[in-house]
Amino acid sequence: MISVNNLSKVYKVHQRRSNLLADIFFRKYKEIVALDKVSFSIGENELVGFIGPNGAGKTTTLKILSGVLYPSSGNVNIWGFYPFDKKPDFLKQIAFIMGQRNQLVWDLPAIDTFKLNQAVYEVPENEFKKTVGELSELLDCRDLVYKPVKTLSMGERMKMELIAALIHQPKIIFLDEPTIGLDIFSQEAVRNFIKRYQQEFKKTIILTSHYLEDVKRLAKRLIVIDKGKILHDGNLKDILAKFSNEKFVSIILEKEIDETELSDIGQLVSYKFPKAVFKVKKNQLAEKISVISKKIPFADLNIEEERIEEVVKKMF
Ligand SMILES: Nc1ncnc2c1ncn2[C@@H]1O[C@H](COP(=O)(O)OP(=O)(O)OP(=O)(O)O)[C@@H](O)[C@H]1O
Ligand SMILES: [Mg+2]
Repeated sequence: MISVNNLSKVYKVHQRRSNLLADIFFRKYKEIVALDKVSFSIGENELVGFIGPNGAGKTTTLKILSGVLYPSSGNVNIWGFYPFDKKPDFLKQIAFIMGQRNQLVWDLPAIDTFKLNQAVYEVPENEFKKTVGELSELLDCRDLVYKPVKTLSMGERMKMELIAALIHQPKIIFLDEPTIGLDIFSQEAVRNFIKRYQQEFKKTIILTSHYLEDVKRLAKRLIVIDKGKILHDGNLKDILAKFSNEKFVSIILEKEIDETELSDIGQLVSYKFPKAVFKVKKNQLAEKISVISKKIPFADLNIEEERIEEVVKKMF
């Protein structure tokens, strides 16, 4: 349904020169290869996580898939459409949601933006009401749609952004870092929403994120990209088993103790009373936790996965 073949994107960036005339008449350009012969295909109702470090090419890929950017070479086919043609029948089927960008109007309530989008996408009134009802129910924000956007918290605003972008019931949704900058509760709310929305309404979703937590909860299949090339395409479990051999154990201390007492136990990543974080090999996890429990008085203990950036680093 979504088929991408040997997709490449090269950005040309103007390099300034000190000599103004040379700069105007003999412009120098530097080429940045953002995507280098990327190929994959995604089936209907699939939720795929697209991950990789900064500058990997994630946003560039989504921009090309949604028709915002023109590829330098290669082919993209989405239900027989070539995205960059921007055919109305294609645009009606997709949504592109960026965590850092917003379309809501600051001084107005979100419902006004929803109505604007209703008009743009020619959504019939009964469908519009049904969709706003269902989505605000799923996001648990029925009353917020009538409050001026400027009075909402970041997390609440993201919920409104999601509804605004989904008013036209797109079949394919491109989500670029939807949880970035949100507090943990809002991140969780957004994740839960994506999961339930995809299950209930059977959507095809491509989600990019820096955070393993996002993709771990949501996607079974992961495409890992770095420097414009796909490093891995497959099951999340396989990737973690293969590339992540460490976990982070964080504890909240009951009383302040000397740093050396902690570093004696294992690799201390950070210590700022009351929180201390250890890096532990997966196969030593049980042993280390038992040592910590015996030697250190703590009020709370948590085990965290490695950040995806760390995992990706090891993929070389
Ligand atoms: N408009 C542009 N002009 C020039 N170079 C660009 C442009 N947009 C992106 N790039 C470059 O292309 C590469 C890929 O960028 P892209 O935004 O796709 O990465 P990303 O994976 O989304 O990164 P991030 O995680 O930081 O959002 C980077 O090297 C970036 O600097
Ligand atoms: Mg990006």
